Formats: sequence, C-alpha cells, structure tokens
Amino acid sequence: MGKFNPFKFFPYFLLIILPVSMSSTISGSYNTYIIHMDKSAMPAAFSSHHHWYTATLSSLSSSNGLLPTHLYTYNHVIYGFSAVLSPEHLHQLSRIPGHIATYPEMFGHLHTTHTPQFLGLNNHSGLWPISGFGDDVIIGILDTGIWPESESFDDEGMPPLPERWRGGCESGMEFNSSNCNRKLIGARSFSKGIKRRGLNISRTNDYDSPRDFMGHGTHTSSTAAGRHVDNVEYFGYAKGTATGIAPMARLAMYKVVFDGDTYETAASDVLAGMDQAIADGVDIMSLSLGFPETPFSENPIAVGAFSAMEKGIFVSCSVGNSGPHAYTIFNGAPWITTVGAGTVDRDFVARVTFGDGELTVIGKSIYPENLFVSNVPIYYGYGNRSKEICDYKSLNPKEVAGKYIFCDLDDNLTVFQQLLELDRTEAAGAIFNSDSGQFLKTSDFNLPFVTVKPNDGELVKKYITSVSENNATASIKFQITVIGTRPAPQVAYFSSRGPDRQSPWILKPDILAPGVNILAAWVPNRGLQPIRDSDLLLTDYALVSGTSMASPHAVAIAALLKATHRDWSPAAIRSAMMTSADVVDNTGNPIIDMTSKVAGTPLDFGAGHVNPNKAMDPGLVYDIEAKDYINYLCSLNYTTQQIRVIWRTTSNFTCEYANRDLNYPSFMVILNETNTTTYTFKRVLTNVGDSPSVYRAAVKVPSGMKVSVQPEMISFEKKYSRAEFNLTAEINLGGIEIVPQSDYIGNYGFLLWSEENGKHVVRSPIVSAFAA
Ligand SMILES: *[C@@H]1O[C@H](CO)[C@@H](O)[C@H](O)[C@H]1NC(C)=O
Ligand SMILES: *[C@@H]1O[C@H](CO)[C@@H](O)[C@H](O)[C@H]1NC(C)=O
Ligand SMILES: *[C@@H]1O[C@H](CO)[C@@H](O)[C@H](O)[C@H]1NC(C)=O
Ligand SMILES: *[C@@H]1O[C@H](CO)[C@@H](O)[C@H](O)[C@H]1NC(C)=O
Ligand SMILES: *[C@@H]1O[C@H](CO)[C@@H](O)[C@H](O)[C@H]1NC(C)=O
Ligand SMILES: *[C@@H]1O[C@H](CO)[C@@H](O)[C@H](O)[C@H]1NC(C)=O
Ligand SMILES: *[C@@H]1O[C@H](CO)[C@@H](O)[C@H](O)[C@H]1NC(C)=O
Ligand SMILES: *[C@@H]1O[C@H](CO)[C@@H](O)[C@H](O)[C@H]1NC(C)=O
Ligand SMILES: *[C@@H]1O[C@H](CO)[C@@H](O)[C@H](O)[C@H]1NC(C)=O
Ligand SMILES: *[C@@H]1O[C@H](CO)[C@@H](O)[C@H](O)[C@H]1NC(C)=O
Ligand SMILES: *[C@@H]1O[C@H](CO)[C@@H](O)[C@H](O)[C@H]1NC(C)=O
Repeated sequence: MGKFNPFKFFPYFLLIILPVSMSSTISGSYNTYIIHMDKSAMPAAFSSHHHWYTATLSSLSSSNGLLPTHLYTYNHVIYGFSAVLSPEHLHQLSRIPGHIATYPEMFGHLHTTHTPQFLGLNNHSGLWPISGFGDDVIIGILDTGIWPESESFDDEGMPPLPERWRGGCESGMEFNSSNCNRKLIGARSFSKGIKRRGLNISRTNDYDSPRDFMGHGTHTSSTAAGRHVDNVEYFGYAKGTATGIAPMARLAMYKVVFDGDTYETAASDVLAGMDQAIADGVDIMSLSLGFPETPFSENPIAVGAFSAMEKGIFVSCSVGNSGPHAYTIFNGAPWITTVGAGTVDRDFVARVTFGDGELTVIGKSIYPENLFVSNVPIYYGYGNRSKEICDYKSLNPKEVAGKYIFCDLDDNLTVFQQLLELDRTEAAGAIFNSDSGQFLKTSDFNLPFVTVKPNDGELVKKYITSVSENNATASIKFQITVIGTRPAPQVAYFSSRGPDRQSPWILKPDILAPGVNILAAWVPNRGLQPIRDSDLLLTDYALVSGTSMASPHAVAIAALLKATHRDWSPAAIRSAMMTSADVVDNTGNPIIDMTSKVAGTPLDFGAGHVNPNKAMDPGLVYDIEAKDYINYLCSLNYTTQQIRVIWRTTSNFTCEYANRDLNYPSFMVILNETNTTTYTFKRVLTNVGDSPSVYRAAVKVPSGMKVSVQPEMISFEKKYSRAEFNLTAEINLGGIEIVPQSDYIGNYGFLLWSEENGKHVVRSPIVSAFAA
C-alpha cells in the first residue's frame, strides 16, 4: 500500500489562524485594542454609551500629542468599544471607573447540488415541507462577502421582508443598496480593524464593500439558503440542480474577511459584525472562520456567540481544518454548535479503457477540460523502477511526449511529486497507481490525470506488460459523476478532532455535516481552476471542501428546525440535531475516518452525522440556559473579570455555583494521568414530543467502561415535562488493549433513551479520553 501522508497537504479553505505579533500594525506603538466596560458605571451626564466612550477617548493624553482613534462601539456582543491607542492611552484607560478588561486586537483566517438529497431532504415529506423550506428564518453569515447577482440569491416568489428585520444594505465599492432583495435582505462590511493592520483594500485584492472578492462567502451563503437553480455544474462534474439547505430562509451577509489572497479577519471587525447581526435581528448565525484558541473571554467569536445565544440566536461554527490529530479543535465554546466535515456519497471519476477494451478501470479525476482522449499511447518504465514511479527527472521529456505516463505506486513518493514530473515533461497526461485520489482537491487537477486504486493499478500493469513495449494504449472519458458511492459519509481527513484544549470536559465537535466537494455559487469574475499554464477558468458554481462548508449545512438545518419549532432554544436545536444524528454510514457500519479507514470515534464526528428529518422530532432534548454556561465557566476557574467580559453582568458578580456538569447531550470523561476514574453526570431531559411518554435507558459500552443510569425509566406526563437522571461512568482502562484510532486514546459507548411503544431513540455518546 502506498503510504500517503495527508498532513503534507495544506488543503482547503482554512480556518487556521496564525498568531500575529502586534508589531505588524502600521502606526508604531499605536495598536488596536478591544476595551470591555461596565455599562452600569456610565456617569449620568452621558446620553449614551457611545458618547461616554468617545468622551473618555478624547480625555486621554499622550506625550507626543497623538490622539486615540475610535473604531467601533459595541452594544450587543460586549459592552465596550475598540480603538487605536498608545501605551500611555492604555495605561490611563485602565484606571477609568467602569473599565473591566482590555485585549489586544488579534487576527484570524478563514478556514452542491447533491447534499439535500444526501441529507434525506425531500420536497414532499419531512422537514423541508414542514418547515416551509426555512420560511422567514433569517440567517446571518459572517464571511468574505457575497456576489448578489448569483442566481442562487434570486428572490422570485419570496414574500416581503419580515417586519422585525432592522438590517440594512450598505453601499460601497461595486455594491449598492439595490443589490439586496427579498432573499439577500442585508449586506454590510466591517473593515476598520483590518485596515489598521495596514491592509489597503483596492479592486486588486478585495472590495471595500459587502461584495465578495474570493468566493468563499458566496459559497457558504448559497449552501445555507440558495434558491433552486437548474442545470448548474462544475466543468462537467456534479451536474444538476443547485439548492441551499434552507431555500426559503433569508440571508444577511456581514463581511469581516478581507484580502482575497490571505483571507484575513480582525477581532474588532468580527465583533462589530456580530454586534450588528444581533441588532439587525438575525435568528441564526454561521461563522466559517476562527481565531487562535485562547480562553473564551479573549476569543471574539466565543464572546459574540454568548450574547447571541442569550438572545436565542443559534450560532454554528466550523471546527477547523487541522485534523486528523487529536486536540485540534477551534470554536469549541460550549454555547457554539461546532461542526466537523464529512464526505458525501458522490465521486468524480474518469473511465479508462485500455487497448481495444482489454481492460476498463474507473479512477478519481476532477480534470475540468472536455478532452477527447482516444487510443493514446501509454509510457511505462518497462523495468526501470525510477521511471516506473515517475521519480523527479527520471523521464525523458521527448520520449514521453504526447503519451500518457503510467506511474506506479511508491512508498517514498507522493502523487504530488509524480505530478511535478508530469508537469516537467511533455507527456499528454498521466495515470497514477495511487490510493491518494480521495485526498486531492479540485485545484490539484490542473493537468489531465487519473488516479487508480492499487488493485486496479495491478490490473493496468498486467495489461501493459502483456502487450509488447510501446503497444499499450488507453482511451479516457473525463467528467463523470458517480452518485451513491459507499461508504458515505466518512470523516474528512482535514476535519479537526477533539477534545477541545480550552474545555476538554465537553465533547467537541458536536456534529458532522457535509464538507467535501460541495457545489455552490461562486464569484464569476475570479478564476478558480487552472489548466496547465493557462489562465484560471471562470465558473459560477464551484466544488469546494472544508469545515467552512459544513457549518452552513448545520446552520441551515437549524433554520429549518427553528421554522418548525419557533420556541426551541439554541441548545434545544443542537440537542435535537445531536441525539438524532447517524453513527452509521450508508453501508450500515460505523462511520469511518477517511485517514485511518477504520471506524471513527465521537472525537472525530461528535454525536454523528446530522439527519435533518430525524432532528425535526427528537422526542427529548437536553436544554441549557445562559446561567448554566456561566456556572460551567466558574468550574473552569474563570475569574470574575473574564466572566464579566463574556456575560456583561453587573459589577458584583461572583461565582456562587461552580458546576462542570453542563446539561449537554454528550458525556465526556477526561483521564488525567490515571487509568481509572468514576464520574457521575447529572442531566435533565425535556419532553418535546406532543404526548405523554415513557422512556427506558439502555447503554452500549465497551470493556473498560461501566455505566449505570438512575432512574432507568422515566415517564413524562406531557409536552415540556422535565425529568432528571444521573449517569455514572466507571472507567478502568488498566490492562485493556486500547486501539489507537487516529491518535485518540480512550474508549467510548452510547446512552440510548428509547421510547416505550414509540419510535423515538435519543442517543448520546459517552467518551473517555486522556488529557492532552
Ligand atoms: C422541489 O421544489 C423546487 C421548488 O419548488 C423545484 O424547483 C424542484 O424541481 C423540486 N424538486 C423535485 C425533485 O420535485
Ligand atoms: C445602484 O445600482 C443600480 C443598478 O445598477 C443603479 O441604477 C443605481 O443608480 C445605483 N444606486 C446608487 C446609489 O449608486
Ligand atoms: C497603503 O496605502 C498607504 C497610503 O496610500 C501607503 O502609505 C501604505 O504604504 C500602503 N500600505 C501597504 C501595505 O501597501
Ligand atoms: C533508469 O532511469 C534513470 C533515469 O532516466 C537512469 O538514470 C538509469 O540509468 C536507468 N536505469 C536503467 C537500469 O536503465
Ligand atoms: C523507500 O525508501 C527506503 C529508504 O530509503 C527504501 O529502503 C525502500 O526500499 C524504499 N521503498 C520503495 C518502494 O522504493
Ligand atoms: C504491436 O504493434 C504492432 C504495430 O504497431 C503490431 O504489429 C503488433 O502485433 C503489436 N503487438 C502486440 C503484442 O499487440
Ligand atoms: C479550579 O480550582 C480548583 C481549586 O483550586 C481545583 O481543584 C480545580 O482543579 C481547578 N479546575 C480547573 C479546571 O483548573
Ligand atoms: C449585587 O447584585 C444583586 C443581584 O445579584 C443586586 O441586588 C445588588 O444590588 C448588587 N449590588 C451592587 C452593589 O451592585
Ligand atoms: C443523582 O445523584 C444525586 C447525588 O449525587 C442525588 O441527590 C439525586 O437524587 C440523584 N438523582 C436521581 C434522579 O437519581
Ligand atoms: C495504565 O495501564 C497500563 C496497562 O494497561 C499501564 O502500562 C500504565 O502504566 C497505566 N497508567 C497509569 C497512569 O496507571
Ligand atoms: C491534569 O492535571 C494537571 C496536574 O494536576 C493539571 O495541571 C491539568 O490542568 C489537568 N488537566 C486536565 C485536563 O484536567
């Protein structure tokens, strides 16, 4: 088997964040800061907080006479503002009554036609028709902007704007208010913070307006709530009808990521975008980007999402593309729904027929050109190992000119190194014997090549050696799309894995959603796919992979659930999605991890792969209130100051009740330098079924884990009845052979609450894992 190292790939649209030294700001020792203030400390003389903050700023002095610059005032995500300050300003500010904390600016990065069917969504039954396709739910997306002219954002047949909507449509570079409609009901742009960093936004690197430069925001928005658009495709692949997961939901774009090449975002801008989204009245928010993992109080997404959650807004984020190793989670705050990426049951292939039909094999290819390859000669090293594996500079360009090279599997060479050789020579194309096709992304296919699996590779070798030298030929049909591939879903190799470093006691990710080769709208003026040395090819719809693509799927399913159950809290919506998720794939076996090819674990896929129709009717939910999260932070020894930043409470807050036992729909035991531990979890279930019901607990656990549930049977008298239970997990991994999966070590099982004489099964993973 070829050893393929997926970690060498720097894959997809990333959420990876580089720590940024503050010295990169333009104004010397002047830096941007986010200042948290105690709202109740505002002197009566001021008419508004904004007035108070700006007056405070103008009262600051600096020995060089330079003034502080105000960037944003925040009213919803935090109480406070952002400003550009000198060290002297900072010092004075820290002594002003009402000052809680100041954090320096930080910077983050960004991290389909077919997915509705894959998710089981259907025009005529289930969640789609029942939710009115997400009718009137407003989804706010913080991203790179939007291309409003895309057919996916057509508003034909959409009802007038909801009255509660307070948002707006900002004019700016190549964008004006007439670009919004009844589908795209809001569009704004936040660039003050990133400009302070020294980014000059011009038409060559981005638009200083809600217009999307790079395509990512157009893609995530249309994935979530694009309309039905017929006959879309990506250069011959994935042909069909493009539709978002919540096609009747409304969209509001908050552009916070700039520079179409580096995809940068500033904390001050993200906070401003989330602040505005809350003020405008979004119901749901999605962020496919991330900041360095710090305590939640310093992370703008965690802080903003907390305020959103308090107002009933469901917030979902991508988990990051730093997998497949353990402890690589981003956006792991327990009030965020953290989404990992899975594959879908669709593949893009080429059919290769050898000779006069002696052999036909199917291999992976997403080469975008409509090529006619008929009886082209095949070049193979014929006994010279170095040539057979297409080692760098092993081939004579003249000798292979016009031929398709067949490159054999090699432990020491990746298909990328072989591609370099293809590129260097004058060969017409290549057939690689390699298991790595599934790890290649669309943009890797800039030359005509196919990867065939090693089993097929052996057959190809047999054919080639059976005909005399230089007599082997092949005909290739590119641009074939295969639906119904198995097994699917699999955990995408790049999807970040739990536990979360900041709060390992809550299982993350929460859930898996489609995130590999998702077809959705793209910006039409910026090329995506190159062919050889030509210019980039333009396309209105693009196939893109990343956990960035998974979050919009989850957020749109949340929108469908919200449209169906207007009274559900964000935690109830998440619980419904988690406890009804699928833990088996379309072959009926446990979902596998595409890197290791063995069964994944809840640290890879959370509670499982989201199943929207089942989430509509979960039977029971585990609900959580804002105060519960605060008690959780108290148990993590967050200081009063840190909690006030997140919760914006009055000045005399103290942790009275530290409780690590959040009412989460999953159970996590962290083993800290020990093989054995016993932990009792306390949970509360709420019946969201329409009638009285009785549930019985069952556990499925491996050796090394003993679980008891008290009580084992619960009766709910009516809808919204609540009941408590305790779950005690005894872990003893001493002497047990633990099979490392990815590099997670521990074990896991499931708790199932099954309805007596009913159909509901409420499943939660129970996971033990060693501390980092
Ligand atoms: C589902 O409904 C949409 C919108 O009405 C329509 O465009 C689409 O063709 C329908 N699909 C099927 C499979 O009926
Ligand atoms: C906005 O764009 C529309 C259509 O291109 C144009 O008619 C209108 O004058 C523009 N409005 C402003 C304020 O630029
Ligand atoms: C941005 O523009 C300003 C003024 O035009 C210029 O002084 C500065 O050097 C530019 N910065 C970068 C990074 O190009
Ligand atoms: C195999 O090919 C390499 C590169 O072309 C060449 O240097 C080497 O001499 C060849 N070996 C044999 C045994 O032909
Ligand atoms: C890979 O490299 C190692 C060490 O250089 C060598 O022993 C091994 O034979 C190589 N494998 C192949 C298939 O060439
Ligand atoms: C190889 O090709 C030559 C002509 O191109 C033909 O005469 C010969 O029969 C072929 N040999 C085999 C084994 O197919
Ligand atoms: C919090 O502090 C308590 C008391 O010092 C300690 O027992 C506990 O381990 C700490 N918790 C964490 C998560 O650090
Ligand atoms: C402290 O908080 C309580 C409520 O939690 C409030 O009643 C009281 O007035 C507060 N005290 C001060 C000094 O703010
Ligand atoms: C759960 O355990 C606690 C003690 O740890 C006990 O007070 C409580 O009654 C138990 N709850 C149930 C439902 O058994
Ligand atoms: C855990 O158990 C293994 C044997 O199964 C043993 O090698 C290891 O030392 C134990 N670790 C601790 C911390 O007890
Ligand atoms: C594990 O224990 C060490 C030492 O007591 C402590 O510093 C660390 O925070 C613990 N980690 C977890 C995840 O509990």
